[in-house]
Amino acid sequence: MADLCCINYYIMDLKNSTILITGGTSGIGLELVKQLGDKGARIIVTGRKIEALNETKKRFPKVHTFQSDVSDPDEIRDLYHNVTRQFPELNILINNAGEMRLLDMQDTSHSLDDLTREININLAGTIQMAHQFLPHLMKKPSAAIVNVSSAIAFMAYSTAPVYSASKAGAHAFTMALRLQLKGTTVKVLELIPPGVNTNLQNDWVLQPNPSQMMDVDKLVAVAVKGLENDTPEIKPAMVKVLKFLSRVIPNALMNFGHKEFEKFKQLNNNK
Ligand SMILES: NC(=O)c1ccc[n+]([C@@H]2O[C@H](COP(=O)([O-])OP(=O)(O)OC[C@H]3O[C@@H](n4cnc5c(N)ncnc54)[C@H](OP(=O)(O)O)[C@@H]3O)[C@@H](O)[C@H]2O)c1
Repeated sequence: MADLCCINYYIMDLKNSTILITGGTSGIGLELVKQLGDKGARIIVTGRKIEALNETKKRFPKVHTFQSDVSDPDEIRDLYHNVTRQFPELNILINNAGEMRLLDMQDTSHSLDDLTREININLAGTIQMAHQFLPHLMKKPSAAIVNVSSAIAFMAYSTAPVYSASKAGAHAFTMALRLQLKGTTVKVLELIPPGVNTNLQNDWVLQPNPSQMMDVDKLVAVAVKGLENDTPEIKPAMVKVLKFLSRVIPNALMNFGHKEFEKFKQLNNNK
């Protein structure tokens, strides 16, 4: 009986949760819609493109969609008011929306405004969403903020310098927030994917090595299990190995990844 009580205490009740997923119209977010929906959760999804939101609604009719850009604070404020008015029971926020570009810092075609786009979406968007929704989540008996970072948070990938910075920042922010919210009803979890086959890589001139990529349904199955068990850092086996190597041989690991930069530079120049 004592064991049962403890198991109930630790397992997150996804079935009775209302979950807001940013960037839920593609890739990891869309698969979260599917697998968390299968658990019985009520799902709310955001994204920028209306066609993708409509397509998601068509595929998953029970899902509620809101057009909203996480890099725009005014849109975050509007989203907060609309979602909490319609879904006062909202108790889980998944900050998943993100972009990743391969980028040569010597390429002068990038404007300064455009250069830091991933910082605005992946990092500032995550921080602003967490800040905006926190007072609401604090009122719930059981709540969570889940930030989607990346294995790149542990080792800068030279071919994607701004993305690397955004994800290292998201990882640091998540750890700090977890400490601040210790002792409250809001858990702070981090999903740390390796390379996963999604639309994230569609525009890359240098395509990733398929043998190093994880299937999205497998990644999300690990994520859902991690959510159910309140795992602070949800990491598939490949990421556990990478995190360990990033501590014992950080330079070797980064130099291995850096081999791709020359290939990218050449392809980028010939574009
Ligand atoms: N795939 C990987 O290899 C990998 C590895 C590690 C971490 N991750 C992380 O996982 C997350 C999901 O990536 P994914 O691979 O599933 O990519 P994806 O298939 O390209 O999906 C990205 C989603 O985010 C939305 N989005 C992008 N910018 C947005 C913004 N400013 N505001 C609101 N929504 C936005 C997109 O919809 P709209 O374009 O319509 O807005 C889309 O729904 C990202 O944070 C990514 O960094 C991915």
